[in-house]
Amino acid sequence: MKVKPIEFKNDVLYLIDQRLIPYKEEYVEVRTLKECYESINLMVTRGAPIIGFTTIYGMALWAKNNPDYNLKSLEDAVSYIKKARPTAVNLAYEADRCFEILKNTQDKSQAYSTLVSFGNEEIKKLENDNTQMAKFALEDLKKRLGKDRFRLLTHCNTRRLACGCIGTALGVVSYLHTNNHVEHVYADETRPYLQGSRLTAFELSKENIPHEIVVEGAASYLMRNKLVDAIFVGADRIVKNGDTANKIGTSNLAIIADYYKVPFYVVAPTSSFDLSLSSGSDIEIELRSEEEIKQYRGLEIAPKKSRALNPSFDVTDSHLITGIICEKKLITDHASQGVSW
Ligand code: MRU
Repeated sequence: MKVKPIEFKNDVLYLIDQRLIPYKEEYVEVRTLKECYESINLMVTRGAPIIGFTTIYGMALWAKNNPDYNLKSLEDAVSYIKKARPTAVNLAYEADRCFEILKNTQDKSQAYSTLVSFGNEEIKKLENDNTQMAKFALEDLKKRLGKDRFRLLTHCNTRRLACGCIGTALGVVSYLHTNNHVEHVYADETRPYLQGSRLTAFELSKENIPHEIVVEGAASYLMRNKLVDAIFVGADRIVKNGDTANKIGTSNLAIIADYYKVPFYVVAPTSSFDLSLSSGSDIEIELRSEEEIKQYRGLEIAPKKSRALNPSFDVTDSHLITGIICEKKLITDHASQGVSW
């Protein structure tokens, strides 16, 4: 069965509750912008592209619930939803595009349906773009490694649950598997939210892709013992010089990959690029709650008195990235030239 992580039908946005996977496949119903904000903020849904799509549908619902909106109320709605999560630029990018559409809509009675169609089209577009990215990845892997079956390592979750369609880094893995190019996949557990062991392993299992879950600390073991041919990760924000924010632990992986000379690829649509920022130091990194580290499903797993620091993302320096793959091209000169397509 194909999991549908996001679906808009009969005036309701349905989001699979990613907090419950792999135990349960249940949906949360969203009817207002506030419910949309909460679903993103509380990580009912997560992953850069899908929170962008959720934002579009959230703004559609807002337009439906506020048929007499004006410029001020529109500005307030956009600035409200942008605060749901700060690091993935897709959210702000799509909120700004909704702002432009709603600002320029002459007949406000059309605003709701215009945005719903816009959301549907954006998901379809990413589906095609993801396939293109996977083709770029395969071409480069074959050339670089001189073989055609690969052992891959990935971090966090970047497939259907994160994108609403094929997916970025894990989309590449799936495409390679479909075309018989995957020998094995290592899925990083991805502490503390366990996007790897809960979500990536769930999606790999559904597709019968041979895989093992590893803790992040195993990266050096795997690479030193030559068990990994290449690493694929997604991105939450790629800035002008190629520095890339992604799930916490990504940068550790890139540093170890550089040491052991393992190709390290970032796969992301151009909607995850923020060319208004010149370096990764300008990216706002989301700090999440201590409870995500100190508890597991309500069970205390650390001393009550100990504090925990929970940065949700880190920045990988541009020069550590072998290639940045977007729907337009494979970028390899980012460290010297900056990103462009
Ligand atoms: O905190 P999350 O789960 O939203 O973080 C997600 C990631 O870091 C993903 O790797 C990134 O959004 C790319 S999704 C294609």
